[in-house]
Amino acid sequence: MPTRREFLAGSAAMLALTQPGLALAADTTALPTLGAIGAARGLLVGCAVAARPLREDAAYRALIRQQARIVVAENAFKFGALRPSPTAYYFDDADALASFATENNMVLRGHNFVWHRQIPRWFAGYVTPANAEQVLVDHIEKVGGRYAGRIQSWDVVNEAVHPPDHLPHGLRNSPWQQVLGNDLQTGKPGAVPAYIEIAFRTARRVDPKALLTYNDYGIEGDDDAAAGKRRDVLALLRAMKERDIPLDALGVQSHVDARASFAAGPFSKGLGELIAGARKLGLKVMLTEMDVNDKHLPPPIPQRDAAVAATYATYLQTALADPAVIAVLTWGITDRYTWLNGEDSRADKLPERPLPFDASLQPKLAVPAMLAALRGAPTR
Ligand code: G3I
Repeated sequence: MPTRREFLAGSAAMLALTQPGLALAADTTALPTLGAIGAARGLLVGCAVAARPLREDAAYRALIRQQARIVVAENAFKFGALRPSPTAYYFDDADALASFATENNMVLRGHNFVWHRQIPRWFAGYVTPANAEQVLVDHIEKVGGRYAGRIQSWDVVNEAVHPPDHLPHGLRNSPWQQVLGNDLQTGKPGAVPAYIEIAFRTARRVDPKALLTYNDYGIEGDDDAAAGKRRDVLALLRAMKERDIPLDALGVQSHVDARASFAAGPFSKGLGELIAGARKLGLKVMLTEMDVNDKHLPPPIPQRDAAVAATYATYLQTALADPAVIAVLTWGITDRYTWLNGEDSRADKLPERPLPFDASLQPKLAVPAMLAALRGAPTR
């Protein structure tokens, strides 16, 4: 039974969800935590953690401790962050998060071994088709080996599909594709580039306990671009399975746009199709980087917060209905540190409000909306 405070907070949130213009604040002081309510349904719920505030901001650390059962580094485990030079490794930030997770009984994700971004400057002049496999294997052995046994899931490959690049199978023309893009067996272009096959096989060998994940964005929408990319991603995963490449899960980044919440039945088709498609391939699904961009909404905060909360609600209700989904992570926990104020900011330069907690670390309407979706999920 909800307490009176919980009930009132929930009602305020629901009212705001149905009337996005309404100026209501969420009274969520008595609400249970996202992590605990997720755990009651067998779901891992948590967030990405940024290295600097983890070191410097005690209130941020406390909020994560309170809310998260699973954490992932926003940047610290990436190739560029770990590899200042071809021979040197920088593990301080990654180790700090791994220790924080252990000290607080949290599950840890790894993000990521292979990505086309955050590759260091030295890569272009150093990595060639002749040494690329060695560089990749060394990296996964060194990094995966360091944290082996402590990682719940590794994003082995991130964002390898990008149809606008016009490569066969919708593959992205990434730095790794350019040096190791052909099929491992035939040496010619194929459905699974060598770098993907090598990365997954090496990751399994190095950390057999971690779920191995392919992670991508823009694959759950109902528009044509998302539908096309979704088909390409599912085809890649199917081709990997047919080849017995070790693959356990699909990461759906879930960077979504609050505009969608104004339409009827957002995410009903594409998101359900995507998750069912992954499930039919025998994969688990994780929502790995969820946040709700408010950049196309008018300035008033109550209106933005209500639309953001409604988007969390509809998205999570749809996704969590499928028992293949085992985890939900937001990309950050507080608007104080969201990446969206840097890379993808609003035209009017108002700070974005995409995360469950605001810049003062207070819960917004998104919190009761998320809690309601978690409570409504079937138990895993
Ligand atoms: O590390 C340098 C630092 O030395 C320098 O002083 C500072 C000055 O700008 O930049 C620092 O690097 C920044 C890095 O974050 C660490 O803070 C980069 O400029 C900045 O571009 C980088 O942004 C990250 C972005 O990935 C990089 O592509 C975001 O924080 C991070 O949230 C974002 O995360 C990605 C996921 O990994 C994959 N999915 C999409 C998601 C959002 O783009």
